[in-house]
Amino acid sequence: MAKLSVIGTGYLGLTHAACMASLGHDVIAFDIDTDKIASISKGQVPFHEPGLPALLEQAIASGRLTFTTSWQEVADQADVHFICVGTPQSAYSEAADLSQVRGAVQSLAPLLTRPSLVVGKSTVPVGTAQWIADTLAAESPAGLDTHLVWNPEFLREGFAVEDTLHPDRIVLGVSHESDVETLKDVYATPLGEGTPLIVSDYPTAELVKVAANAFLATKISFINAFADLCDVTGANVTTLADAIGYDTRIGRRFLNAGIGFGGGCLPKDIRALQARAGELGVAEQFDFLRAADDINLSRRTKVVEIAKAALGGSLDGKKVAVLGAAFKPDSDDIRDSPALSIAGALHEHGAQVTVHDPEALPGVRTRYPHLATAESVNEAVANADIVLHLTEWQEYRAIDPQALRTLVNNPIIIDGRNVLDLDTWINAGWAITYLGKPGS
Ligand code: UGA
Repeated sequence: MAKLSVIGTGYLGLTHAACMASLGHDVIAFDIDTDKIASISKGQVPFHEPGLPALLEQAIASGRLTFTTSWQEVADQADVHFICVGTPQSAYSEAADLSQVRGAVQSLAPLLTRPSLVVGKSTVPVGTAQWIADTLAAESPAGLDTHLVWNPEFLREGFAVEDTLHPDRIVLGVSHESDVETLKDVYATPLGEGTPLIVSDYPTAELVKVAANAFLATKISFINAFADLCDVTGANVTTLADAIGYDTRIGRRFLNAGIGFGGGCLPKDIRALQARAGELGVAEQFDFLRAADDINLSRRTKVVEIAKAALGGSLDGKKVAVLGAAFKPDSDDIRDSPALSIAGALHEHGAQVTVHDPEALPGVRTRYPHLATAESVNEAVANADIVLHLTEWQEYRAIDPQALRTLVNNPIIIDGRNVLDLDTWINAGWAITYLGKPGS
């Protein structure tokens, strides 16, 4: 079996590299960041991802996973190259910033002297794969013997290992049918477990990824729009979601109302899709994604307004405890985190904000130095005028509201994730507010 390279060691690349090694492949993982490669080579995972540290350690110990910062070593050693670099939102527009993808292709291509396969996994605007295929053909010494397959990734942070080893589906956009066999070898284990394989062309494979994320984002904003309708009518959005979710055509997942979606994927992907649709002359058809984005961002202002109203109309000088900083539980990722966006806005309104999170505090201290942080929930809520529950870590559901009440100044809590048990909190003497369902 051919040796694999994985280019980029972020959430996607490092997980992919460790998982491919665990499936028995020889893998060389590349990153331009020498410090990162130095610490990863020692088995240190630079982010919180359950299961990954153990897998990485085993992969390194087995000798099947090595690391490099040399493009030459990548080209010399591997024949199948997975591009896993980031495609963040551009600093200048809503489009995706493709500089890392372009940089990787342009660095690798001139070194590909023998027939090889490049496999794109990064999330890109439709049309990018064809540009990469053309560039590889034009700039690699092997020319037309350098092939490209587009193989989007669907992993969720917090479940990255599970999603990589046991994906829902494997999608391949190909221009040469023969390349399918190579990827079937790479993914022999998940395919052997019955994972569906969809073979298509480049644009379809690229669109599968952005369509999936656009659908998920829209689903969340759909239920959040109903949360506002529930608020003005006294209805309960959780019961509503449960009831419509029994219809298997709708499904219950991704119908949890609250402060909405964040992270490094859904927000930037729906914006990049709108930008690309505009370039391709179908902007209007994707206006609904602007609405989904606006509904999502309005959750954040709504929570600030609720907090302000609960504190008599002003946040100035008020002590606010924020439980949760990561964009979702089981992750320390704070990119576009709704929780931190709300914490930052409260701070701007003059509140003294103290943030707790089981994993994300180092990132908070670096990126939000103006926010106070606390290592424990008890420390965060000490003398608080209001508590905001914004990331639904399991440990917050286990909080004893009775005990917590003795620590705060006012027993008022906003549950921005709609998961805390109403009766338990009311019986402990708290006023609790949800988004889209009756509180107390
Ligand atoms: C998302 C997709 O779910 C993955 O399939 C995809 O591969 C990935 O992006 C990517 O493009 O790389 P991820 O960003 O890890 O994965 O997070 P999600 O689990 O999708 O959650 C996104 C946000 O939506 C979180 O802030 C979460 O709190 C929020 N959310 C999720 C809700 O507000 N309500 C829900 O019902 C579900």
